[in-house]
Amino acid sequence: MLVPYNQILRQARQHQYAVGAFNIYNLEGALAVIQAAEELGSPVIIQLLPAALALGGAPLIQLCLAAGKNAPVPVAVHLDHCPSQKEILVALAAGISSVMADGSRLDYAGNLAFTKEIVQAADRYTAGVEGELGRLSGSEDGLTVEAANAKMTRPEQAADFAEQTGISALAVCVGNVHGTYATEPRLDFDRLRAIGARVAIPLVLHGTSGLPDEMIVQAIAHGVCKFNVNTEVRTAYTRTLSRLFRDGKTPELVDVMQGGLEAMKHPIKEKIRLFGSTNKSFYQ
Ligand code: G3H
Ligand code: ZN
Repeated sequence: MLVPYNQILRQARQHQYAVGAFNIYNLEGALAVIQAAEELGSPVIIQLLPAALALGGAPLIQLCLAAGKNAPVPVAVHLDHCPSQKEILVALAAGISSVMADGSRLDYAGNLAFTKEIVQAADRYTAGVEGELGRLSGSEDGLTVEAANAKMTRPEQAADFAEQTGISALAVCVGNVHGTYATEPRLDFDRLRAIGARVAIPLVLHGTSGLPDEMIVQAIAHGVCKFNVNTEVRTAYTRTLSRLFRDGKTPELVDVMQGGLEAMKHPIKEKIRLFGSTNKSFYQ
């Protein structure tokens, strides 16, 4: 069933678990997320990056919404990392449940103004808005942010940002990185604790792939209710496809799709178990 992003995250915060938000690019990805969540009785968020949406457009959103609507578990469909008001409005008009207003490339005042505008627009569709304060380094869909340009979230700005924008959830940067961690991941839990102490809304951690289990568990204890996961799932898919086509093999296309789907379910289910959302499909 389709459940609003805000409700899924509010419930997670109330019951101190987190929900996985998995980036998908096609039918196999959407089905892998839904089937994994269904097998574990877990709420889940399917999310699209702008690059996937640029290719799939409204049909890709409709695919995700239809898959979510027919699912026996709570599902939200989310537009991830979108810096463009125009693209966000198109996605909202196509029925997406929530959007990430990505103003991380802007200065504080610019991010505040951009995010406020998106919240006002999203309110017209009763859609949730995830804001971001700080900026992750790393790569995703060809978009790279150098470590020098990464910005850690400043706890003293978090309350003001959340209050002034009216966002539903806040994505933070506390040492998390998009894509592969070049060195041992190190999260600044003192900073995360200080942010959680200042804002009542759910916190979101991007760059989950490659984070040690114990860091994920600790982040949940500090108010993280949504984890964004892309690289581990996407890698499971691409590795399986290259194996299926190795040595000039020409498998049936449905077998390729099924193989890719099954391969993605493994990391998705692993993460859902770790986030603690197994059997949390109840809603008050
Ligand atoms: O927004 C998407 C996530 O932040 C993806 O991060 O590829 O490191 O799991 P990841
Ligand atoms: Zn991200």
